[in-house]
Amino acid sequence: MAAELSVMIPMNIPYLDLKAVTALHGEEIQAAVAEVVGSGWYLQGRALQQFEQHYAEYIGTKYCIGVANGLDALTLTLRAYKEMGKLQEGDEVLVPANTFIATVLSITENQLKPVFVDVEEDTLDLNLAALERAITSKTKVLMLVHLYGRCTYNERIQKLCEKHRLLLVEDNAQAHGCQYEDKKTGSLGQAACHSFYPGKNLGALGDGGAVTTDDEDLAQMIRSIANYGFAEKYVATYQGRNSRLDEVQAAVLNVKLRHLNEENQRRIDLARLYYNKIENETIRLPKLMDEGNNVYHIFPVFTKRRDALKQYLQDKGIGTLIHYPIPPHQQECYKEYNQQSLPITEKLAKEELSLPLNPTMTEEEAMWVVKALNDWK
Ligand SMILES: Cc1ncc(COP(=O)(O)O)c(C=O)c1O
Repeated sequence: MAAELSVMIPMNIPYLDLKAVTALHGEEIQAAVAEVVGSGWYLQGRALQQFEQHYAEYIGTKYCIGVANGLDALTLTLRAYKEMGKLQEGDEVLVPANTFIATVLSITENQLKPVFVDVEEDTLDLNLAALERAITSKTKVLMLVHLYGRCTYNERIQKLCEKHRLLLVEDNAQAHGCQYEDKKTGSLGQAACHSFYPGKNLGALGDGGAVTTDDEDLAQMIRSIANYGFAEKYVATYQGRNSRLDEVQAAVLNVKLRHLNEENQRRIDLARLYYNKIENETIRLPKLMDEGNNVYHIFPVFTKRRDALKQYLQDKGIGTLIHYPIPPHQQECYKEYNQQSLPITEKLAKEELSLPLNPTMTEEEAMWVVKALNDWK
């Protein structure tokens, strides 16, 4: 049971303590790393093969290709579609305006055109009317980003993709283990891109990423481009690059994948506590989703006085972050989009604050955060 508010003593609660996260399975991780170190085989070996097999099974796709990071997973997927003749320079890619910049970088890196679509304020899902309006004869891809761990897929999106023959590519960097009905995010479109950045729900001890897909041709093409463009050893069919998930990271991910469901459940339980106990009319929570449809990578709250709330919590020893203070279309590197008006995304960027929520947190700590929020005037 949650601790009673009246008996609580002050606590220091960091936003995320990665040392503590790793320590949850410290011995298993140490043993897995030691095995790789002792094996003398550090790239493209058994640990990667096992991880690719286990992660494909977990997500529910035929193929998984380990790559160096989440941005590469996204970039290589679009590049592979270009090499396969399914995309060409200048094609338009629909992308939620409220996303991490990597989603957009993968589009522009491939000389494709991002078309930003605003989101709904309560659900944070794409605004479907705006999405339909944005479709032109050049639209070829919908990038669906399950931001914060919330599944943002639905039947209308599926129908829209079918009607307009759009490739559906999921950015699943923040939603490992998230469900849509009896499927996992990462298996809902033609391809899905995953990041294993250390702070993610499934996080490595460094960079890592993967693409999951049922499309054998796409899987082969990504493998080839990620391996210098080789069709076979030293025969370069494409101008490729080097993007590998190394053996140490794969071994760590093999361990952590075994614990992902229990860690996600812990996140869900803590989130339920936040939803049940936070009562402050100046602080808004996003619409509650059915259990399983949200794996709470990030727990965002929204308030007009976001910076004041952040400072107040910091003074109480509670760490928070902002995801994200500047939306991609307002970044300096995207000057050509700076004048676009995407009002909900812009509002969210001003009002969002991410509360601490991770599998190492206790209920007492979560209740301490709740108390601080409820006392805030
Ligand atoms: C939504 C989203 N897409 C893409 C990425 C890029 O992943 P990486 O940091 O592994 O390159 C991240 C995470 O950092 C992300 O949160």
